Amino acid sequence: MKRIPFIAGNWKMNCTTSEAVSLVEGIKALISDITPEQVEVAVCPPFTALHRVAQLIEGTYIRLGAQDVFWKDKGAYTGQISPVMLKDVGCTYVIIGHSERRGRFGVPDPDMSDELLKLFGDNDATVNRKITAALSHGLKPIVCVGETLSERERGLTDEIVRRQVIGALNSIPTESVENITFAYEPVWAIGTGNVCDAYEANRVIGMIRGIISELYSSELAERVRIQYGGSVTPENIEELALQPEIDGALVGGASLRPDSFSAIVRTTMSAKQRIGQK
Ligand code: 13P
Repeated sequence: MKRIPFIAGNWKMNCTTSEAVSLVEGIKALISDITPEQVEVAVCPPFTALHRVAQLIEGTYIRLGAQDVFWKDKGAYTGQISPVMLKDVGCTYVIIGHSERRGRFGVPDPDMSDELLKLFGDNDATVNRKITAALSHGLKPIVCVGETLSERERGLTDEIVRRQVIGALNSIPTESVENITFAYEPVWAIGTGNVCDAYEANRVIGMIRGIISELYSSELAERVRIQYGGSVTPENIEELALQPEIDGALVGGASLRPDSFSAIVRTTMSAKQRIGQK
């Protein structure tokens, strides 16, 4: 089973509409020859730029993703965005359970006390609700999991990731699992420049595949894509993409420049071709 590699850009809280326009125009120009059979590509702008970016990528192979979703269709939930709205604006994907929403920041932020960091409030139960709601509206979740530095130092990496994966998949029916992409994003690697060692990322991602296999079947686990995320750059993507379990990347900072994002896409394609995975 050959999984198609998948590179997604998480723009986080960056880009006004006009900045989003120039970023996506730049990306379009640099990867216009890449087909979705080679590498699938998605951009995940902030909510405010989704509509404009959707217009600009129409007719291209670039797919649109959002960065979060609420689990209700509509109602008195001030400030929330529903899966219906994301479908309506043209999203294919939605990032769910990013560590910056679970309240587990990689880079210490002096403006955010521990209490404030918990304000976004995602946990295994809300992540599961969001995944369920997204799937029921035909959105494809990109589910983020990963340990903090202190969890890694205490030898808890496998236990934490296992708990997050099992929590995410609670009551998710077999036929939906293939529509989920996991992203292994060690919190300590996000925005820090400390990319995870490629062999270690491959090991943890292999473990995630093993959990999916235990919960469902090995055939299904072989079909689920699992990305790596955390300080991915054009310089380090090759080593990551040469690993057989790593199906691409969820890219933060380096997705904010057309040249670095497109270089990550191209290098992933050639690395997977080299190991015969594409
Ligand atoms: P960086 O690539 O900036 O480390 O961010 C990774 C990330 O959080 C993607 O979701």
